[in-house]
Amino acid sequence: MTPTTEVQKPIIKTELPGPNAREIIQADAQYVTPSYPRPDYKLVAEKGYGVWIEDADGNVFLDCNAGVAVCSTGHCHPEIVQAITKQTETLIHMCGTDYYYRQMPALGKKLDEIVPISEPTKTHFANSGAEAVETALKLAMYHTRRQKFISFFGSFHGRTLGALSLTSSKKAQRSGFARQALDVVHVPYPNWIRSPLAGVTDEESASKATIDWIENRLFQTTTPPEEVAGIVVEAVQGEGGYVPAPCGFLKELRRICDRHGIMLIVDEVQSGMGRTGKMFATEYYAVEPDIMCLAKGIGSGLPIGVCVARASIMDWHKGAHASTFGGNPVCIAAALKTIELLENGLVENARVVGEYLRNGLRALSAKYDCIGDVRGLGLMVGVEFVESKATMKANPELRDKIEMACFERGLIILGCGANTIRWSPPLILTKENVDVALEIFDAAIAASV
Ligand SMILES: Cc1ncc(COP(=O)(O)O)c(C=O)c1O
Repeated sequence: MTPTTEVQKPIIKTELPGPNAREIIQADAQYVTPSYPRPDYKLVAEKGYGVWIEDADGNVFLDCNAGVAVCSTGHCHPEIVQAITKQTETLIHMCGTDYYYRQMPALGKKLDEIVPISEPTKTHFANSGAEAVETALKLAMYHTRRQKFISFFGSFHGRTLGALSLTSSKKAQRSGFARQALDVVHVPYPNWIRSPLAGVTDEESASKATIDWIENRLFQTTTPPEEVAGIVVEAVQGEGGYVPAPCGFLKELRRICDRHGIMLIVDEVQSGMGRTGKMFATEYYAVEPDIMCLAKGIGSGLPIGVCVARASIMDWHKGAHASTFGGNPVCIAAALKTIELLENGLVENARVVGEYLRNGLRALSAKYDCIGDVRGLGLMVGVEFVESKATMKANPELRDKIEMACFERGLIILGCGANTIRWSPPLILTKENVDVALEIFDAAIAASV
């Protein structure tokens, strides 16, 4: 069962934002924290159905962002709504940290079956991506009795103090917060187009240069490997620009971790849950993490984050880590239904429609010199804007202009990295939806260059 809707194209009938939206934006400015990193365009959502978002003035947008890669099954998927409703009629909360309920082991078991870790696993339940990452950090420190971490430039792992110590995709995330809470060393992510390391000409050399930096620079100077608790990596760097890791990179990290007793922590908060056309992006790399972090798409919009680890690693004592709301039965009901829908076709749809989308974007890249790169896996696609293909100089202003031009035409997309537009639509997106989206994207670029 997929959500049905009569809408075929966006419907923009007022100026943007419209009068009702403006009122809400004004109230928001008065009462809501100014720290949210909202884009230049202002979308005031009122209703969501399938791939469509209706704003407070009745304008209808094609949503190719899905609430930042969260509404994996589309907005208000009827089966998700039904699963949540049923659960709210039975048990809304009981606090899994102190009591038991059937939903927790049920989701733990399901995750054990689907994560790319062959050893038995255990799951810790939290409420967000950052909390899942905090769990991973604490677990790695506890298990290894070490304190240092290695993270990558461009990475995003959340904004709580531990996770923030890893995060390095934008200065604004760090400014004002002084020292890092944790001892984290950052190394260049192997993004071959933007790698600062010498001799990088393609994915393979980018991967080699980063590995060489870790083993022959870090380990020999500031960061003895026997003091490193974990290497934390996104299989596809998300906020940093939608950059898939090069083919052999995760295997090399696995080799380093095995050699030195370091935990390989793979953050699939954004890339997980079918988005890349496999249940987990890690599967493209034939590597087994020690610890995995999941959130965003796992709950179709309900707040849930999980840290799944090899059971032999999850050896901490009673009371070492817990969360009042983490693994709330309603959120788990949404997660179990989400996984069922993903397994019953949406992962495959992400693969097929994602390829169709990338082909369409590559055709636009042939038409416009300002598109420097089209990359991604499944429905996790990045389009990088540059001054020209010859210089490949990043063009963030053009990216922002195109983002706004898309909004004005009824297409919701969002920037990431310095100069990239991310496509992270609901995984129910159809080829027909893609045709509509590409027509708008084409018009938006033409109007912006
Ligand atoms: C890879 C990754 N990890 C962690 C997070 C943090 O998740 P949350 O915002 O739910 O705390 C994000 C959020 O964008 C993310 O993309």
